[in-house]
Amino acid sequence: MTKNKIVIGNWKMNGDLMEGQDLVANICEEVKGVDNPCDIVVCPPYQILHPIHKMLEDTKINLGAQNCAIEKAGAFTGDVSPHMLKDIGVEYVILGHSERRKYHFETNYIVSKKVQSVIKEGMTAIVCVGESQKEKEDGKTIDVISKQVKFCLPKDFNENNVIIAYEPLWAIGTAVIPTSEEIKEVVEAIRDSIKTVSNENCAKNIRVVYGGSISVENASSVFEVDGVDGGLVGGASLKANDFVSIIKESNN
Ligand code: PGA
Repeated sequence: MTKNKIVIGNWKMNGDLMEGQDLVANICEEVKGVDNPCDIVVCPPYQILHPIHKMLEDTKINLGAQNCAIEKAGAFTGDVSPHMLKDIGVEYVILGHSERRKYHFETNYIVSKKVQSVIKEGMTAIVCVGESQKEKEDGKTIDVISKQVKFCLPKDFNENNVIIAYEPLWAIGTAVIPTSEEIKEVVEAIRDSIKTVSNENCAKNIRVVYGGSISVENASSVFEVDGVDGGLVGGASLKANDFVSIIKESNN
C-alpha cells in the first residue's frame, strides 16, 4: 500500500464567514496550480463548516472539524455530534488536541470514546498526541506518547480510519520545532505502540503526521523525516499562500 502524504489545516477559533470563504477560495485557486497535490484537509470552525463544504464540493480538498461530541443526539447543550458533522459533509475530525485537553479537560478516555463515535460514522479521526515541555525535560516523552496512543484508540480502529498527529505542546504556536531525529524517534515509538494495540500491518501503514509550528521554511525538512506522512498545520494554514506552499513541499 502506498500512502499519500496528507496536509491538514487546523484553523482553530479563527475565521468568520467572509474570512473563511475568502481563505478557501484562495486555497482552491492556488491548489489548481499544484501538480499531483497530496491529500488536503481544511478544518474551519463549526459555524462555517456547511458553507465551506459547498465551496469544496467539486474540488479535491476535504473538510474536517476540530472536535465533536461522543453521543449521536440528545440533551447535550452546546455539543455537536459526529452524525451531525457527517451529515454536512465532514470527513475528518481532529480529536484530543492539546488545547481541548487543556481548556476542556479531555482525558485519553474521553478522546477514545470520541474516536470510536467518529469511526462509527465512517469518518477519519485525526488523533493528537504530544508531550509538554516539562515531560520532555524529565525524559518522559516516549512514555507519555505511548500511553496516549494506547488509551486514545478504541478497539475497532485501523490504518484507514485513524491518523495520528504528533504535536509536542512546546512546539505549538512557538516557532520552535523538534529536530528531525527527535521527530523520527517519536514517530517510531508511535508505530511501536500501535503494534501493541493492533498489528504490524496497521503500525506500518497508519498515517502519522507532525504538527507544531510547521512553516514554509521548515516544511520540507519535516516531511523528509522517515515515517512522517504529512503535517497538521495551525497558524500557517490561515494564509492561502503559505498553506499551499507547504502542500507543495509535501510532494518534493
Ligand atoms: P501551529 O499549530 O502550527 O500554529 O503551531 C498546530 C496545531 O496546534 O495544530
